[in-house]
Amino acid sequence: MPVLTIMPSGKTATVPAGSTLLQALFMAGEPIQSKCGGKAECGSCHVFVLEGRKGLSKMQRAENERLDAIVGVGSKSRLACQATLGTEDATVELLSFASGA
Ligand code: FES
Repeated sequence: MPVLTIMPSGKTATVPAGSTLLQALFMAGEPIQSKCGGKAECGSCHVFVLEGRKGLSKMQRAENERLDAIVGVGSKSRLACQATLGTEDATVELLSFASGA
């Protein structure tokens, strides 16, 4: 099972492969906003993936289109509700405006 490291807290959690980052963050006790309920419609679950990007599911059209509409998006951006963990560990950075669900 992959280990998710969450920044800036540095908390780690072992989570089941196949979990979305959003599910993994909830399991780790670091919930973030998910206003649309995980439908790639709100962008509130935007995170930066610092390590392990290649181990995540490929970005689909809905996620790509939503990210295009968000300010502050970079090459490390993913929507936590859409990115699914494989077997590789990953490190994500929570954005200050997205935390505190
Ligand atoms: S929860 Fe709305 S885009 Fe992820």
